[in-house]
Amino acid sequence: MNRQTGQRIVIGISGGIAAYKTVNVIRELQKRGYRDIETILTANGTRFVTPVTVGAITGKLPYTDTFEPGRALSHISLVQPCGILAVVPATADILAKFAGGIADDFLSTAYLACTGPVLVAPSMNSEMYRHPATERNIARLKKDGVHVLEPDAGYLACGSEGPGRMPDAETVADMIEFVLHRKTGGPLSGMRVIIASGGTAEPIDPVRTITNRSSGKMGKELATAFALAGADVEIVAGTGTACYPAYCRQTKVQTASEMKDAVLKKASAADIIVMAAAVADYTPETVFHEKKKKDGNLLNLRLKPTTDILKTLGTRFEGEKILVGFAAETSNVEESAKKKLTEKKADLIVGNIVGVPDSGFEADTIRAVLVAKDQSTVPYEKISKEELAFHIVEKISAIAGRNK
Ligand code: CTP
Repeated sequence: MNRQTGQRIVIGISGGIAAYKTVNVIRELQKRGYRDIETILTANGTRFVTPVTVGAITGKLPYTDTFEPGRALSHISLVQPCGILAVVPATADILAKFAGGIADDFLSTAYLACTGPVLVAPSMNSEMYRHPATERNIARLKKDGVHVLEPDAGYLACGSEGPGRMPDAETVADMIEFVLHRKTGGPLSGMRVIIASGGTAEPIDPVRTITNRSSGKMGKELATAFALAGADVEIVAGTGTACYPAYCRQTKVQTASEMKDAVLKKASAADIIVMAAAVADYTPETVFHEKKKKDGNLLNLRLKPTTDILKTLGTRFEGEKILVGFAAETSNVEESAKKKLTEKKADLIVGNIVGVPDSGFEADTIRAVLVAKDQSTVPYEKISKEELAFHIVEKISAIAGRNK
């Protein structure tokens, strides 16, 4: 299972100030491998972003006029079939047209003709967004099966503050991908996944912590790969810089103990649990309540072991849930992965090299080996974390008997 990058994405751009951001959404989708991207600009859309700009980015002329010579009936062929029609930004006007079934320009006729899923990203002044007419139209569209990406609240182009801002390009691209993949279900549809990701931070005093190096990048890629495979994903996010996809539920934690509580609380409802987190093995025995002042002397910290979350899960749920762990090592990766697989009663351990520039913390690539309970081992010399995540999901789909 991989990203379905061959599917056509049709981006409709209506006439709102956020239209300039749509170019970045297209770039973001291209970065993720999508190549068949077509665009439709409304007449007012062309006032905010020109066909030349959009055409230069996609390499294809945008559609602007239903009656353009040589492109007759394109409003049908463009969206029959298509992976998704995403209207970014969607103005109050285009929402009203869609809700009322008015088809008087290229985009509104394409909407009625579209056989794929539709996503709209409303973006406008807060009063326009909150107007009963707009609210009514959005509610109507939701009933009609249209996916609505709620706008962010914040500083708006008109100078006011409130809801109406188009979310950032990555979030919009995340939602487009999500809707595109979920329309066909996916091998893991109906399965609930918990991913513990990032590091933990154990307090020494109110201003200092002991932490593990982890960006959360692998957890983020896993969250994406699982969700695109149809699973319902919940992330227990520790420390780190990763931005998790907006369509995943997220519980933030700091310490190993908080991570343990969050994972164990949610575990019974899950089918698959992935411990991708770098959990602290030790935590200070006592925490200073005031900031510890330096006095020039040696400072002894007594550390006590934390609970091994994966091992606890293995003891409770072996054979009942699919348990996945990581073994981050500086040497003897495969050997350690096999040992941890047995000791923690996991179904799959992803052994990986850390502490080198092309594998481990902050890196986009990873050198890894998948070690499964069925004794199979699959090494990956050097692979992007994104690609590895899809391989892991494929392996888990096979373990779950869901591979197609
Ligand atoms: N893990 C866990 N709870 C802990 C420590 C680790 O659930 N308190 C999980 C990690 O998320 C990972 C796996 O156990 O999936 C292996 O973690 P790792 O740090 O590689 O190994 P440890 O078991 O901590 O052993 P060591 O540090 O001695 O290698």
